Amino acid sequence: MVKKRACVFISGTGTNLKSIINYSRDYNFPININLIISNNKSAKGIYFAKKFAIPHKIINQTRNQFEKIAIKELRNRKIDLICLAGFMKVLTKNFIRNFNGKIVNIHPSLLPKYKGLNTYKRAIEKGDKLFGCTVHYVNEKLDSGKIIIKKRVHIANAETVEKLKKKVQVEEYKAYATAIRKIYNPN
Ligand code: GRF
Repeated sequence: MVKKRACVFISGTGTNLKSIINYSRDYNFPININLIISNNKSAKGIYFAKKFAIPHKIINQTRNQFEKIAIKELRNRKIDLICLAGFMKVLTKNFIRNFNGKIVNIHPSLLPKYKGLNTYKRAIEKGDKLFGCTVHYVNEKLDSGKIIIKKRVHIANAETVEKLKKKVQVEEYKAYATAIRKIYNPN
């Protein structure tokens, strides 16, 4: 199997990045991580690029400059798939069109519920019993592209944002891996 070439975009801790790297080291996993891009020079996740000797680029610029440099890097490295993993910049329509159907994101909610930020808090305050995460394609509308997979968790009585986030993240790592397998092997 020839592996597809992927780039992960991060802004923060990078635990999803770490998990995808670990999966990608398996011969049978459909992608390799060939590039990591961070828009934040202090992102903790950059550590994993160094640890696993994966090329990385920090692009700490305005959105248009960021995208211009990113597109060049992605083309140079012949990237087939962009995985957003805690990437906090909203991409322009132009960028998304350039990589149509090749950008995926992980979002902490059962989409289409709770698009945007502060999803844990909003779900707890609403009194929801079910929560989770969604991996979806990125289109021009925020958190609205075609859904690839969702994973559910229960919201406990007296749930806290921190505890819920931890529970969801465990599911996120599995969800991202399953979604990537599904993209290249839909049956
Ligand atoms: C994840 O929980 C994801 O749902 C959201 O941002 C968080 C990133 O966490 N999009 P990490 O940087 O992967 O640890």
